[in-house]
Amino acid sequence: MIDQASGLRALVSKNGIHNSKFITIASGKGGVGKTNFALNFSYILAQEFKKKVLLIDADIGMANIHLFLDLDPVKNMKHLFMGERIENIIQKAYAFDALLGFSGLDELYEMDDMPMQTVIAQLDAVSKNYDYIIIDTGAGIDEKVAAFLRASSKSYIITTPEPTALMDAYALIKSMYNMYGYESFKIVVNMCRDREEGTLTFSKLQISVNKFLDIDVDLLGVLPYTDNLKTAVKKKELIAKSYPKDAYTKSIRQICKEELKIEPKSQERFWQKLFHFMGKS
Ligand SMILES: Nc1ncnc2c1ncn2[C@@H]1O[C@H](COP(=O)(O)OP(=O)(O)O)[C@@H](O)[C@H]1O
Ligand SMILES: [Mg+2]
Repeated sequence: MIDQASGLRALVSKNGIHNSKFITIASGKGGVGKTNFALNFSYILAQEFKKKVLLIDADIGMANIHLFLDLDPVKNMKHLFMGERIENIIQKAYAFDALLGFSGLDELYEMDDMPMQTVIAQLDAVSKNYDYIIIDTGAGIDEKVAAFLRASSKSYIITTPEPTALMDAYALIKSMYNMYGYESFKIVVNMCRDREEGTLTFSKLQISVNKFLDIDVDLLGVLPYTDNLKTAVKKKELIAKSYPKDAYTKSIRQICKEELKIEPKSQERFWQKLFHFMGKS
């Protein structure tokens, strides 16, 4: 059985179908902890669970992952569209790899004349090397964030217990569902006082989603507020590395375990779809 399944996987991966899981991390409101979640989730999956992980900074115009990882900001996705080999742009960060984003808002729009099929072919080829491709996006729901969500079979929505963050998370889910019929959401509640505050926050969101949209959402995890995260950020370190026993790190480790229980779902032509949704192909 196992041999048959792996044979099948090898076969489909030749036809542009990935076994890698694309997970897009989004939020309604900014500053809720998406980037820190993406970084520490990638770190633990790679470092502790030995998965091959590529973290992509898709906060277009305000990419900032290089600041947390002390990487060379010059090597970013812009160069992919200028004909550079992707292997020269991807950088090592601890046990995972990182692909940095565009730093200026106009950069994506300057790429119109680039051969999209070449870019897609490079991204496709490299994606097959990873078990997980984690995509950190900017806040809100512009067409670019929507495109990443639509192309991913999975999305994690980060919120905090604050009413404004919760309202914006609901607005994001609502527009993704109403505009595109997208309904694959897992919720992470960050900066909680305790587990109860997180589950209560999640239920408020779930009640609205059930009632007004007639779909369901899952609670993926509750992350505590912790000063250790701020200390780590100031030192350009990852909390998961510097404070492996902090409750925040433990919660992310638990989310990794939950994610690893789920059988990989093959995903067809992620990059092709993404650029199509962005109106670029
Ligand atoms: N669980 C947490 N506890 C304490 N501070 C946090 C926590 N999560 C995020 N922060 C702080 O919130 C700020 C925004 O985090 P960031 O990950 O950059 O958010 P986003 O990517 O959603 O804009 C950072 O200054 C970070 O230090
Ligand atoms: Mg961010």
